[in-house]
Amino acid sequence: MKILVTGGAGFIGSNFLHYWFGRHPKDEIINFDFMTYAADPRNLVGLEKYNYSFIKGDIADRELVGKAIKDVDAVVNFAAESHVDNSINDSSRFVHSNIVGVHSVLEAVRRHGKRFHQVSTDEVYGSLPLESSLRFTEESGYRPMNPYAATKASADHLVRSYFNTYGIDVTISNCGNNYGPRQHLEKLIPKTISNAMKEQKIPLYGNGMQVRDWIYVDDHCSAIETILRKGVVGETYLIGADGEMPNIKIVKLILRELGKPENLIEYIKDRPGHDVRYALDASKIRKELGWSSKYSISEGIKATIDWYRELK
Ligand SMILES: NC(=O)c1ccc[n+]([C@@H]2O[C@H](COP(=O)([O-])OP(=O)(O)OC[C@H]3O[C@@H](n4cnc5c(N)ncnc54)[C@H](O)[C@@H]3O)[C@@H](O)[C@H]2O)c1
Repeated sequence: MKILVTGGAGFIGSNFLHYWFGRHPKDEIINFDFMTYAADPRNLVGLEKYNYSFIKGDIADRELVGKAIKDVDAVVNFAAESHVDNSINDSSRFVHSNIVGVHSVLEAVRRHGKRFHQVSTDEVYGSLPLESSLRFTEESGYRPMNPYAATKASADHLVRSYFNTYGIDVTISNCGNNYGPRQHLEKLIPKTISNAMKEQKIPLYGNGMQVRDWIYVDDHCSAIETILRKGVVGETYLIGADGEMPNIKIVKLILRELGKPENLIEYIKDRPGHDVRYALDASKIRKELGWSSKYSISEGIKATIDWYRELK
């Protein structure tokens, strides 16, 4: 298989490259990445020994995307601005990469008739009440609550509209919060690990009771592979590992693992419009495609801590 991966120098994209080559060492992958602040060349160490090439470019650059896409079998789009806090400060780059960029890739996909997978988020569905057992399903309505989520929702709509209008081979996945190696230190789990190791304060929004549905990044990658191989075009799949946990609990779990005191936690003013709870029902991908997650939260957190310890 020859795959064009966009955003492969970021967190999930780079884990996907390592995951894929680890299982299919003879395949070929082109990584197309703009190398924004969120990309890290260290994420790509070890890929030289494979049939791997890199193009530095913006997915909104139609000409360049058109050239890169020509000979591939499939395109998997990870490229996006991904940090909610940044989108609250200024969402221009989010509109550019997450909407205009996706449109440009879709145009190339349409022109060249390629299989396309869009990597999306459960944040498009908005927020669930804290005290409830409600979970998102593929039928849930879109109610994005912050600029990041709104741009990802717009991209999903564009992808679906291209399937409906032009009949291109697309699938979409909406996944919960990922954690694992190679994540930028701006995100909760790496920031907690890094600050705790240095015995620095760990900032936590509000009362820390916001619930996220956590998934180890390799489980996300295996789900994307399953969708690429067995997914039905035009369909959307929710990806989750039944990993609901409040932020405060995951921070305390990390502190326990590292043997650090809980008084490192510093509660800070809540993020404006902070979603209270995400939870997703991944029974469709389990039942219809036979996928299952492999990592428990404690296994995944241990592997993540080991990664950041080595990096130190
Ligand atoms: N991190 C999560 O928990 C999570 C959960 C669900 C879905 N997602 C989605 O998964 C994808 C990857 O997320 P991540 O956490 O790895 O993000 P990330 O911020 O770590 O990486 C994004 C990558 O995309 C690249 N990029 C950004 N704009 C680009 C552009 N215009 N052209 C080319 N490359 C560009 C960056 O350089 C970076 O390498 C995103 O689409 C995100 O919305 C993330």
